Amino acid sequence: MPQIIDGKMVSAMIKDELKAQVTALKNEQGISICLAVIQVGNDPASTVYVGNKKKACAYIGIDSLSYELPEETTQAELVSLIRELNQKEEVTGILVQLPLPDHIEEDEIIRAIDPQKDVDGFHPQSVGALCIGQPGFISCTPAGIIQLLKRSGITIAGKECVIVGRSNIVGKPMALLLLRENATVTVAHSKTVNLQEITRRADILVVAVGRPRMITREYVKEGAVVIDVGIHRNEAGKLCGDVDYEDVAPVCSAITPVPGGVGPMTIAMLLYNCVEAGKAGRR
Ligand code: GUN
Repeated sequence: MPQIIDGKMVSAMIKDELKAQVTALKNEQGISICLAVIQVGNDPASTVYVGNKKKACAYIGIDSLSYELPEETTQAELVSLIRELNQKEEVTGILVQLPLPDHIEEDEIIRAIDPQKDVDGFHPQSVGALCIGQPGFISCTPAGIIQLLKRSGITIAGKECVIVGRSNIVGKPMALLLLRENATVTVAHSKTVNLQEITRRADILVVAVGRPRMITREYVKEGAVVIDVGIHRNEAGKLCGDVDYEDVAPVCSAITPVPGGVGPMTIAMLLYNCVEAGKAGRR
């Protein structure tokens, strides 16, 4: 059976490292870190994610401010709140939970966030910096996957990596990060012809397609490492990923479970970005 890549354990390790760092920053330099979290409307999944983020902040000793805005909030009101938070010195990070209601233009909201406080790494300046190898915040899920691979003893350099999915949040930054780690990278997507042929080349296969259990063993080379970014509820109400875990596990060398794989890493890397923002903000 394959190595089960334990995101819960690795994220717990990272959180404890950050907790020690936050304590030291507070005691030795008087730096306190504060994340402002904005949610518009009450999408139940978003409410759970936001709750988990705030809990994780509290665990490592970061303050969080909650802004729960009604569904009818206008573009201008949201931009104005972000500008206000940009100006507040005690707020070191800003997170706007996505998705936003349809009447709000997401790109403009992301652009309104001060890049120095962009702990999600979604601002065009952050993405551009990643693209050309300059310092900046990195999108939390792909950054978490790199940490997960490294801390699970999986070598990236020289490997054939295939990413299925080309979103701005996961697929594209994932490709740039794997490239930075000296992998050979292919990005496949919904219009890719002969997907199985491409995915079967992968030593490391990262799946972020958003379709429950789409990836079966026919897509996977014997001995590959499989990273599953998806999270869905199946007919029985049980969580499952984009990968058909029972079918794929026997043919791969290592695999992330859902839940307990990539999910916990996203929050750990958000906390990492919050700590970096806090340090930079008070220099
Ligand atoms: N919605 C789904 N994933 C994310 C994320 O990483 N950050 C934010 N802000 N919203 C999300």
